[in-house]
This record gives sequence, structure tokens and C-alpha cells, in this order.
Amino acid sequence: MSDFYSKIIENNKKWVETQLALDPDFFNRLKDVQNPPLLWIGCSDSRVPANQIIGAKPGEVFVHRNIANMVVHSDMNMLSVLDYSVNILKVKHIIVCGHYGCGGVKAAMGKSSFGVIDNWIRHIKDSYKFHKTEIENCANEKDKLNCFVEWNIKQQVLNLASTSIVQQAWHNKQELSIHGWVYGLETGLVKDLDVSFSSHSDLKYSDVYKLEFE
Ligand code: CO
Repeated sequence: MSDFYSKIIENNKKWVETQLALDPDFFNRLKDVQNPPLLWIGCSDSRVPANQIIGAKPGEVFVHRNIANMVVHSDMNMLSVLDYSVNILKVKHIIVCGHYGCGGVKAAMGKSSFGVIDNWIRHIKDSYKFHKTEIENCANEKDKLNCFVEWNIKQQVLNLASTSIVQQAWHNKQELSIHGWVYGLETGLVKDLDVSFSSHSDLKYSDVYKLEFE
């Protein structure tokens, strides 16, 4: 077995010991119930671990991650996580968190084929199409990538707001805010992109997405 593989098993034992030393009731308290106030939709990138960067403990964040933190409206995995979070766990906040220098977003800017993943990256290309002017107005390639990263996050927040699940929750006057954040790999800091919504009245987007409920 590799050193890394043995090390992570050992790390787990040490982590359990540390948790129990701090709080003997830790696992007992968490074993039957979870009540997280937050759903995190982030990039799969290994450098952006949801809990660690916001100092959240086990039990505090429900997590969904994929390449380039996408909210694809027909993705059953995302929809299942979203439905469970909103309708069963009753999370109060959903954060879509992307990051500067995102490889998925970078791939979407180019024309290279990477195989099956091209079909996922195509969803990111759609964000480019929607925000082409803003992105292409950026000065250089690095700025363009980071600008695209930000616009992609904003687009995913809108995609989230357009899901039947979020629309139904808002229709039911359920307390639910959605937000877009970007994480800096170079600084470790997150920036709120100021695209928070708590109801449909805050949203300015094409009326064609708005559902009406009985
Ligand atoms: Co990424």
C-alpha cells in the first residue's frame, strides 16, 4: 500500500481521538440526526474543500460538488441533493461557490477535446454564450478567465433560482437565500459576488422561467 493510503487511514484514527478528546459526545450527538443550515454547491477541485474554508463542523454543511460548480437543470444528482436539502433538511442558505483559475472554466474557453467531459464542459460554454460581451471586454487572458469564472457562478445562481424546487420553496414562503461566492486559490479568501436572492421579487431574469403554482 502506498504511503499516502496508509497515512489517511492513520489520520482517521487520530481525528477520532482528537474529536473525542474535545467532546466525548461528538459522534453520539451526530449519529441519528443532521440539521445543516447550508447547502454548498462547489467545484470538485481538491483545493476548495467546502467545510475547511468556512470553518464548518460535521453536521453543518450539506455538500454537492462537480466540475465547475454547475447547476444543470436536468442533472438528477444535483436535483436530488437540492430537493433533499430544501424540502427535508430545510436549509436556510445555498451557496454556489466557484474559484478563480478553475480548470473546467478554462477548458470551456478553449476548443480542445478532452473526451466525455466535453459534454459537461458544454454547459459551461453556455455560460460563456450568455455573458460573452462582459467576458470579452476583459483586458487579458487571465482577467478573461477570472471574469468568466465569476459570470459562470452568477449564471449558476440564476439556474438555481429557476429550478422548480427553489421556486416552490419561495412560493411557500420558506426561508431560503441563495448566494454566489468565488474563492481565491492564491489568498484562501472568498468574495461574495452580490447575487443573493431570497425571493422571486429580487430577481431580474427572463419571465419565461417563472413558474406559477396552484
Ligand atoms: Co474548478
